[in-house]
Amino acid sequence: MGMTMTINDRAVEAEVPEDTPLLWLIRDELGLKGTKFGCGIGLCGACTVHIDGVAVRSCVTPASEAAGKSITTIEGLDHPLQQAWIDVQAPQCGYCQSGQIMQAASLLARNPNPDDDQIRQAMNGNLCRCMAYLRIHKAIRQTADKLAYDATEERQHG
Ligand code: FES
Ligand code: FES
Repeated sequence: MGMTMTINDRAVEAEVPEDTPLLWLIRDELGLKGTKFGCGIGLCGACTVHIDGVAVRSCVTPASEAAGKSITTIEGLDHPLQQAWIDVQAPQCGYCQSGQIMQAASLLARNPNPDDDQIRQAMNGNLCRCMAYLRIHKAIRQTADKLAYDATEERQHG
């Protein structure tokens, strides 16, 4: 089936069966390998990308669901979270990390100033076999605090 979509601000025409997982299209057809395959059944979060800004598990999302929409993968993300990830040295092996960042970016888009419980809840489905959870949490906390600080500054000083 032919379908068009935008991936990382680039128009893409894909010719794949409509039940092809979006992850396959991203990795195998488009060669964007930053999005990872973990479990393949929607349970680990390694394959997380955004469709119209909302985090989805691309391993269980048919490519046809992305038709006509805007997809962002880790290669197309430009977000302060990425600097925080570097600052706190969040990754261990790194395999889960692009999914973690995409999930966190989606959280901060709908709630720029989450409390710690809200962060834990939003990140609950993103597994890390290296147990880097505390550093991941710290990077998200740091980013949220910075965004809140910047917003206050902006309000006070224009
Ligand atoms: S690979 Fe998609 S959720 Fe695990
Ligand atoms: S850093 Fe290794 S799986 Fe998370």
